[in-house]
Formats: sequence, C-alpha cells, structure tokens
Amino acid sequence: MVKGQPKTADKHPSGSTGKVSLIHLPKHLQTFMIDQQQIAEFAKELALEAGALVADKWKNSPLTLTSKGFRDVVTDADFASQKLITDRVRQTFPTHGFLSEEDDGSLPTEGDVIWVIDPIDGTSNFSRKSPLFSVSIAAATPTSDPNVFNSFVGVVLDPLRNELFEAQKGKGATLNGEPIQVSSISDFSNAIIAQDWPRDPQERERTLNLVSKTVHESKTMRSIGSAALALSYIACGRLDAYFNLNLQPWDVAAAGLIIEEAGGRFSNLSGGVWRIDDKSSLGTNGTIHQKFIDLIQ
Ligand code: IPD
Ligand code: CA
Ligand code: CA
Repeated sequence: MVKGQPKTADKHPSGSTGKVSLIHLPKHLQTFMIDQQQIAEFAKELALEAGALVADKWKNSPLTLTSKGFRDVVTDADFASQKLITDRVRQTFPTHGFLSEEDDGSLPTEGDVIWVIDPIDGTSNFSRKSPLFSVSIAAATPTSDPNVFNSFVGVVLDPLRNELFEAQKGKGATLNGEPIQVSSISDFSNAIIAQDWPRDPQERERTLNLVSKTVHESKTMRSIGSAALALSYIACGRLDAYFNLNLQPWDVAAAGLIIEEAGGRFSNLSGGVWRIDDKSSLGTNGTIHQKFIDLIQ
C-alpha cells in the first residue's frame, strides 16, 4: 500500500472532509479571488466524489450501456459522474467553461478557466466490470491558439485502489499526497512501454506498425485501457512511456501535467506541443523521450 493511502474511496487523502469555501462574490470579481491552490483542492474533492459514485456503480449496479459509435460505448455512470462534476463546478465557479467528454449542450465552453473532464477514462474496461479505469479532471487556461490549452491543475483518481494522482503547475506531482517522480531508466531495453489500440482501423494499423518498431527494443509492453491512468503510472515510475495515436483533451489534460510535474515529458509523437487537432500523444520519463521518437521514424 502506498504511504498515506486512504482505506476507502470516500476518505479524503489529505484528511480533510470539508468543502472548499469560496466567498460568494459578484461574477466579475471571482477570477481575481481564485487561486491555483483553491482550484486544486476543489478538483481533488470533485475527483473523490465522482470516484465514489463511479466505484459504487461499478460494484453494485447493473450498468446501462449505449453505443456512441464504432467500438465506443458509454454507460449511465459516465453521465452521472460528469453531471456531478459539472454541477459542482457551475455552482462554485459560474464564470468557468468546460471541455468534457460526454455530450451536454448546456455546458458553457468558454471561460477564463476551462475544466477538462473525463468522467470515466477506461469505459470499455468499466463496462465489462474490469477494474482499470479512472476519473480525470484538469483546470486549464485557454491560449490564443484554440487547439492548445495550459493545464495548471490535474487530478487522476483510480477509485478502486484509492490512488489519487495530483499536480499543480510548478509545484510537483503527488500520489496520495506523497511526491512522485518518473523513473530514471535510460536504457530502452529496460523500459516498460504502454499503448492502447485506437478504434479507427487505419490508426490501429499504424499503431501495429509502431508496436513492431518498439516491442523488440523494450523490456515489455502493456495495454491498460485508461490513457490517464497509464500516463499517471509513468509519473510515479511504474511505466516508462505511453503512446497513443488518438487521444482527446480529456484523456491527457490532467495526466500530461502530472507527468511533466513528476519530471517527465508529454508531447505529440513528433516531440511538439500536444494539440487538440493532432491527437497523437507520447508521455515518457523524459530520458527516453527522444530515443522513442527516433525509434519510430
Ligand atoms: C479511452 C481510453 C483508452 C484510449 C482511448 C480513449 P474512454 O477513453 O483512454 O485508453 O485508448 O483512445 O478514448 O473512452 O474510456 O474515456
Ligand atoms: Ca478517455
Ligand atoms: Ca470517458
């Protein structure tokens, strides 16, 4: 068990059970009062509340499954988790916007802070009652480029193992409150590489090609089925690299920051800034980042 790990999903790793108290100010003054620490504490609460809901549904409820498209499914728990998170954010920060996975036309998309939310990352696993999934929440600021955003708070929770990964820009990353770091592995032959299979047949074929270029050079490979969790595992040294040809902002907004704050790198597959319109993704311990890119050329 990780030091400081809570025993149940509804216990707060920090020991605090209280809500973040934000003074109710007029909207135009709120942004000046919001600081990174407050947002981080609030994001943690949201993840724990959504995580408890999701874990309870995973353990106790028959799930309602709906197809979202080819090889893509969503459950009632995804919608319930998203609603819990977005309702709480809207009550507390009415000026903030959202980039959240499941369709909800009522959510504002613009704001001085954008909440980037994956209510369940790893829904394929979740829908089969496989225990590998997470809740991912990031707070980000928009940039002048609509395809680039800056996460300044990121939280990824594995609600079945009670593992809470957190990061704040410039303040490092933690697992259940304890500082974490990426691995120091520099020799590719010792590296554990993870990836997941895109739904699209052509991207899947390209992934197969990338696997064939990397599998023989690495120690071994894994497919976990939750990108946010795999990226968080790099942040704490359990894995050394993760790639995926088609990730969405909600898959990476929190975990990309967590990796960087743990000393690793997160980019697109060419080593450039991750962009919404690119989707190819590479997270590593930093040391093997360029080696990975060279290998897949
Ligand atoms: C999926 C997972 C998976 C990745 C897919 C994602 P979802 O997210 O992160 O690991 O390969 O591309 O869509 O649909 O379970 O939230
Ligand atoms: Ca996802
Ligand atoms: Ca999801």
